[in-house]
Amino acid sequence: MAAEPVNLNEFQIMAKKVLPKMYYDFYTGGAEDQYTLKENVEAFQRITFRPRVLVDVSRIELSTTILGHTISSPIMIAPTSMHKLAHPEGEIATATAAAACNTIMVLSFSATCSLEEVAASCNAVRFFQLYVYKRRSIAANLVQRAERNGYKAIILTVDCPRLGRREADIKNNMIVPQLKNLEGLLSTQVVSDKGSSLEAYANETFDASLCWKDVGWLKSITKLPIVVKGILTREDAMKAIEVGVEGIIVSNHGARQLDFTPATISALEEVVDAVKGKVPVLLDGGVRRGTDVFKALALGAQGVFVGRPAIYGLAVKGGQGVRQVIEMLKNELELTMALSGCPSLKDISRSHVRTERERLQ
Ligand code: FNR
Repeated sequence: MAAEPVNLNEFQIMAKKVLPKMYYDFYTGGAEDQYTLKENVEAFQRITFRPRVLVDVSRIELSTTILGHTISSPIMIAPTSMHKLAHPEGEIATATAAAACNTIMVLSFSATCSLEEVAASCNAVRFFQLYVYKRRSIAANLVQRAERNGYKAIILTVDCPRLGRREADIKNNMIVPQLKNLEGLLSTQVVSDKGSSLEAYANETFDASLCWKDVGWLKSITKLPIVVKGILTREDAMKAIEVGVEGIIVSNHGARQLDFTPATISALEEVVDAVKGKVPVLLDGGVRRGTDVFKALALGAQGVFVGRPAIYGLAVKGGQGVRQVIEMLKNELELTMALSGCPSLKDISRSHVRTERERLQ
């Protein structure tokens, strides 16, 4: 392998070398047998292209608008927890990289820098990801702070009534640091004498009774648009529209929750068809190449997020690494567009890809 990583997979290999095993396993792992973890990546690889030729691709336009915010490409940063375990500058470095790339970062509820610190450190367009705890006042507190500090949307994660079973964390006795957004509200340093403290902590605090009507409650306490993250079926996509969300993220939480859910790219079209253009549909899970981004757009997503790759970049080179990860994907997307005859994002159509099902027909 070259000294400088040339793709996202090489960043992962380098991250494995620099991170303590407990943290690398935490970032990389999925739930149980990790079927979905593998599938998130491999399902992209089973989609092939139907490229068009002799199209003027001397200029490629990548910029797009997500919930009213114009960004340099449809590649954004997913909310992932505890960036300080990867690099001492934590989420501030990630947000600074997002600003440098002119893209959107979603700050995790479970961050190791507070939402105020991140807001003060850079002018990236930031969304705030929310978990709802049994103590509802905590969510209200965080939503109001996010609003005051210039976050532009609330990303409500809906696939986490309890934490998925991540066996590496159980074996490693994974420790949870104090989560910065909760300082003064709740101690997160739950000590479990056996297994993953994260699991013990989450199962103690997460509100497993959260349901669709609570989106109404959330809407009543904020003016920010609400996007639900973790939709995989047409039924839930339709419910999300009914309760008035402003966006949907097709996600299986990076395969860390329910194992044997389909890859997100396999679930995307079902959701897109149900939504019928009423709100933007976004996707995360397994995006590792510009070709993956193109495939998601061809199947109806308006944009994608990367989770682990940003953390690997952060672990290897701090903010500069996160920036390189986003730039690599952007460059790969641009090349893919040129080679498939799409000078702009709106030229990317359903007919540019062939899914596995179509190939087998
Ligand atoms: C996550 N994810 C996540 N999601 C969320 O809504 N809140 C969170 O705090 C976290 N934390 C988190 C930590 C780590 C280490 C990972 C890997 C993932 C899920 C995340 O937002 C996203 O859905 C996936 O990471 C996307 O898949 P890829 O890009 O990692 O394959």
